[in-house]
Amino acid sequence: MLLGVNIDHVATLRQARYALLPDSPNAEPSPLQAALDARDGGGDSITIHVRGDRRHMQDRDAFEIREHCPLPLNLEMGVTAEMTRLALALMPDFVCLVPETREEVTTEGGLDVAGRLAEVQGCVETLRERGIRVSLFIDPDLHQIEAAAATGAEMVELHTGCFANALDGCWELEVDRLSGAARAGHSVGLQVNAGHGINYSNLLRLFTVPHLAELNIGHSIVARAMRIGFGPAVREMKDLMAAYPGA
Ligand code: PXP
Repeated sequence: MLLGVNIDHVATLRQARYALLPDSPNAEPSPLQAALDARDGGGDSITIHVRGDRRHMQDRDAFEIREHCPLPLNLEMGVTAEMTRLALALMPDFVCLVPETREEVTTEGGLDVAGRLAEVQGCVETLRERGIRVSLFIDPDLHQIEAAAATGAEMVELHTGCFANALDGCWELEVDRLSGAARAGHSVGLQVNAGHGINYSNLLRLFTVPHLAELNIGHSIVARAMRIGFGPAVREMKDLMAAYPGA
């Protein structure tokens, strides 16, 4: 099982002080350095979300990471013409299409692929024509899996937010939903990834979900990094993930 390290919140911290001083020599912490540390800690790919409002990652970060970090780059982006242009200039290895609204604190629900089929399909085609692999961030619902397969995307990322936020006694239901969606995705030939709200303790509860190829994890790794450093925080997560059946 691969680990995509989401480093958005390294940029969140920098922007908290330096959003209006982007050229300041004091601007820190560096997302590129975090990407390099993630590589040293055994991360398999780097995930960044360049949002329409540029609240954390900036275009400059994306190009710097692309140029100087040897790990595969996964760009999360909304389904917009602006972001498609950015992706075609950046040429990440993967794109993960996500829903995006200005008000949300972070990505709050899956992309409604079934409800936006033609639009998503068009975006997937444009990216795939240029050799970029595409994933769709969806809720673990069977009709979204069917729609995802119809777009020509190669991967889905199952939204684990409900699982992560479920109270004790409720998370088993969410694991069942994720398992059903993972089986359905796998059976139609999609690579099945998962992400959102996964941390060092709830990770183990995901181990009964079959077919998981990659997890995208950000917040919890960044928080842990404040105590033990970024590379070691990534290494700890990778070590835990090694116990996934078939990892
Ligand atoms: N996957 C997607 C599509 C996301 O939008 C996010 C949050 O930016 C993540 C994974 C990572 O979530 P977290 O930061 O909670 O680990």
